[in-house]
Amino acid sequence: MQGIKILGIGSYVPETVISNDDFTGVIETNDEWITTRTGIKERHYAMGTPTWKCGANAALKAVENSGISKEEIDMIICTTVTPDSLFPSTACMIQRELGITGCMAFDASCACSGFVYAVDMAHKYLATGSARNVLVVSAENLSKIVNYEDRASCILFGDGAAAVVLCAADTSYSSFIGADGNGADFLRADVISNKLNPFYKIKNIEEPEKQSEYAGFLAQDGKEVYKFAVGILPFAVNKALEKSDFNVEDLDMVIPHQANIRIIQTAASKLGLPMDKFYVNIERYGNTSSASIPLALSEAVENGSVKRGDKIALVGFGAGLTYGAVCFEY
Ligand code: UT7
Repeated sequence: MQGIKILGIGSYVPETVISNDDFTGVIETNDEWITTRTGIKERHYAMGTPTWKCGANAALKAVENSGISKEEIDMIICTTVTPDSLFPSTACMIQRELGITGCMAFDASCACSGFVYAVDMAHKYLATGSARNVLVVSAENLSKIVNYEDRASCILFGDGAAAVVLCAADTSYSSFIGADGNGADFLRADVISNKLNPFYKIKNIEEPEKQSEYAGFLAQDGKEVYKFAVGILPFAVNKALEKSDFNVEDLDMVIPHQANIRIIQTAASKLGLPMDKFYVNIERYGNTSSASIPLALSEAVENGSVKRGDKIALVGFGAGLTYGAVCFEY
């Protein structure tokens, strides 16, 4: 099957660093609990920089080092659970910031699996020749929506963005992508309903139950998501490998969603791979939802942990519940 090539990759991480110790002034917690339960030491916060701007910063870098001109991009897919507006899409705002017009631009809502979903969507357009180059941007500002009164979740998340420019290549590619909506309530952020609607009264219709004051905030059943994650992560990699030219032992690096170091360690042991085959940077960024995989990949490429020709697997899971793995040669 026709594969993909990452022509360019770039990332953007906002300046402000929030350490575990910084949280001790906000909630009852401590560095030891957060470090041992999650592996996180610090995360970056955008502090007002819009999600689209973070995404555009990463996208510009990816385009710059791709060797192609912006005008050669036929499609922009942005993945985010923290857009600045319900519409227009973050992808259109990034397109505007890049100074290009005409190409397809849309957001994909697949939560933390977003980057993997988007790469797989891009692959289909590239493989059919419907697009020559696709820009995938994953941009997140979780700090806008975490509930700072929920100590089990607010410490997990951070902000950041990363992007890749993809084209078709004559290399191996396989994927396994899916979702299970039965777990939709385990991780969610509800949209705030319009309290100004006058027609309940006028039409004599009973108003729906009042929304919780936490509508709009991230809510998570950590234990349920944890159970799901430790099973689906190795499962998805194995399913993608079943369709691939290479086996688990051929993998040079797995880039997992950075949600919890314990989830990654359990997945590594289930896959029978040593931890040094898993790229981990959760200690410095926390969970940046869909940005976490490309942020890790970008760093791995920059520091030489992933090189041209390496066989890699990207694997994500998240709200939906969604999951996905893609295996290809970098
Ligand atoms: O991309 C999104 C994917 N999401 C995930 O991958 C999340 C998956 N879940 C997890 O990573 C873990 O469930 C958490 C890290 C969120 C929580 O860890 P846990 O081991 O499941 O902790 P818990 O919620 O069961 O809480 C254990 C104890 C509780 O105290 P008691 O009731 O035993 O006295 C909590 O109140 O730890 C307490 N606790 C804290 N203590 C200090 C919870 N949060 C904190 C905190 N600091 N921040």
